Amino acid sequence: LAKVEVDMASIPEGKNVILKWRGKPITIRHRTQDEIAEANAVNLSELRDQQEDSERTKKPEWLVMLAVCTHLGCVPIGEAGDFGGWFCPCHGSHYDISGRIRKGPAPLNLEIPEYE
Ligand code: FES
Repeated sequence: LAKVEVDMASIPEGKNVILKWRGKPITIRHRTQDEIAEANAVNLSELRDQQEDSERTKKPEWLVMLAVCTHLGCVPIGEAGDFGGWFCPCHGSHYDISGRIRKGPAPLNLEIPEYE
């Protein structure tokens, strides 16, 4: 299987990077303590695709996701949207700081790839 290595130390806190893996964009966010607290404060009953933030990360400060909207596959924009996470401009899906779908047509949270 194709692997990509990333020097995490090069990603400052509060920043995203985008890279390609198997032809797909992957985004990595180095989350701040405030962002982690925000992600954990969300009531699961508010979520369309109910997942705890802790199920989506191995270490809470590092969020690693496919940057592929679960609606029709556009690339969502980071640091955008009504929920402080990602926004897909194609049809207006808003994802939170855990990459969970919060508003718009996308049915599922942004996918977490296999990583270590
Ligand atoms: Fe993202 Fe439709 S592809 S909202």
